[in-house]
Amino acid sequence: MEHNKKLNEKLPENTQSYWRDSVNLPEFPHLDENLSADVVIVGGGITGLTSAYLLVKEGLKVVVLEAGKLVNGTTGHTTAKVTAQHGLIYDELMHNFGENKAKLYYEANEEALRFIKETVKQNSIECDFSIQDAYLYAGTSQYAGKLEKEAEAYERLGINGGLIDRIPFDIDIQKALVMKDQAQFHPVKYLAHLIQDITNKGGLIFENTTCVNIETGEHPTVLTQRGSRVQGSYILSCSHFPFYEGAGLYSTRMHADRSYVLAAKTKKTFPGGMYCNVDEPARSLRSVMINGEEMVLIIGENHKTGQGKDTIEHYNALEKFGEDVLGLEKVLYRWSAQDLVTLDKIPYIGKITSDVPNVLIATGFRKWGMTNSTAAALLFRDIVQKKSNHYEDLYSPSRFNAHPSLKNFLLDNADVVGHLIKGKLDKPTKNVEDLAKDEGAAITINGHRKGAYRDAEGELHIVDTTCTHIGCEVEWNSGDRTWDCPCHGSRFSYTGEVVEGPAEKPLQRHDHRMLDNLTSEDSGY
Ligand code: FES
Repeated sequence: MEHNKKLNEKLPENTQSYWRDSVNLPEFPHLDENLSADVVIVGGGITGLTSAYLLVKEGLKVVVLEAGKLVNGTTGHTTAKVTAQHGLIYDELMHNFGENKAKLYYEANEEALRFIKETVKQNSIECDFSIQDAYLYAGTSQYAGKLEKEAEAYERLGINGGLIDRIPFDIDIQKALVMKDQAQFHPVKYLAHLIQDITNKGGLIFENTTCVNIETGEHPTVLTQRGSRVQGSYILSCSHFPFYEGAGLYSTRMHADRSYVLAAKTKKTFPGGMYCNVDEPARSLRSVMINGEEMVLIIGENHKTGQGKDTIEHYNALEKFGEDVLGLEKVLYRWSAQDLVTLDKIPYIGKITSDVPNVLIATGFRKWGMTNSTAAALLFRDIVQKKSNHYEDLYSPSRFNAHPSLKNFLLDNADVVGHLIKGKLDKPTKNVEDLAKDEGAAITINGHRKGAYRDAEGELHIVDTTCTHIGCEVEWNSGDRTWDCPCHGSRFSYTGEVVEGPAEKPLQRHDHRMLDNLTSEDSGY
C-alpha cells in the first residue's frame, strides 16, 4: 500500500483529544510495593473510576492500577454521548434474544444515564452535561426499512421516541428515528470530580503500573510488570481489552474497531441534538463547548483496526463531510478512538469465567462506553456487596448463544487466522530509501518483514512488525503514526512502545544500522 497521502491542510498536525487536552488531571505514582485491599481495580478509564467511586462510598478499601495515565484510553477519546440509542440494536436484540432481554438492555443504559445525570446534579459537577435528543437517520430506502423495524422495536419496548421525516441539516435522508431526552457531556471533567472523591475517601490510585497476570483463589492477586503484588477479595478488570483472560477466550470473542473525530468551528449554527447515520460510511455529529464557544464534533469512518484504508483519508473524508454539511471555519482537534465489539453486541460484564466468582471483567462496549461502563460499575458494586442485580444474566460473559454469536465467532476467528497467515506472506512494496519524512511503511530486510518510519528530522525508526500479542502482522497507521494490529487491535508507537493492548510487550526495535547489511534484493521490494 502507498503511504504518501497528505493530510488536508485545514486539519491540525497533532492528534491529542480535546477531552484530554482541556483538563489537567492530578498525577499519581507508580506502585512499587505489595498491597492488599477489598477491591483491586485494573484500568483507570470510566469503568474503573466509576466502580472505585461507588465502592469507596460503600466504605470499601479500593486500589486502582492504571498501565499509563488515567482516562487516556477509550474514555479520553470517546464522543461522550450518554445515550441508550446505540445504533440499530433493539430490533436485532429482540430478534436474537427476545423482548425481555432487549428491554433489559435499554433499561440498564437508561439507568446509567440517570445515574450520571444525578451524580452531576448532586455534586454540581461542571462537565457541560446537557440533555439532548438522539437521532438515527437513513439515506437509502434499504436503511430506511431498517429504521422502520427499529421504530417498531421502540414501540414494543416503550422507548420514548419514534420515526420522523427530517433532520435539520442539508443531508438527503429517507427517514430518521429519535430517542428523546438523552445526553452529552465532557467525560474528563466528569471523571476529574470522581477521582477527587475517590482519593478523598481513601482510595489509592497508581499510574504507570502495568498489570500482567492474576493468581486466582480465595484472595486473588494481581501481579504487576515491576513485580508488585496486590491482593483483594475482588479484582475488577476494567482495562478495555482484558489484560488477563483466564479461560475466557476473550481474544477470540471480540474485535477492535477504530473511528475518527474532528472538533471544528463551523460556519452554520449547530441545531442541537446528537446524530448518527445508519448507512455506510458512518457519520455522526454532536456539539461541544470549546473555550466558551459552541463547536461541533464530526465523527465516523469506522473500520476494523488495522484493516482500513490509509488513515489520513479517514480524516480527510470527515473534513469534507463537515464542510458539506456545516461549512468549516477551523478544525481545532482531530483524534481517533478504538472500541471493542463482542460477538452479540452486548458487552461482557461479570465473572471472568463462571468458576472464578471473585475476578470480574467489563469489556466490549462497542461505541457506547459512557452508559455501558456506568452500568458495569453499578453491577460490580452489587456483585461485590453480594446484592442481586437484574442485569447480571444479560451481561454475563459466560453466556453463549449459538445464534448469532456462533457465526460471528467463526467469522472473527477466521479473520484472525487469515491475518496471521496473510500477514506473513505479504511482501511489502516500499523501498526504505523511498520513505519521505513523516512516512512509514512495511519494508523487507534480509528477507524479513520490518516496519520503518522516517521522522520529521529524517531519522529512521525500525521495528519488527510481528505483534507481541499472538503474532499477527501490524500495519502502518499514517493518521496517528502508529503500528496497528488487525487481529485484536493492539497499537504501538513508531518506536514500538505499546499504545493500546492487549499486547503488553513493545515491538522489537532494530538499529537502523541493520540497513547497512541490506542486499539489493531486499531493497527492491
Ligand atoms: Fe492480538 Fe495483535 S492484538 S495478535
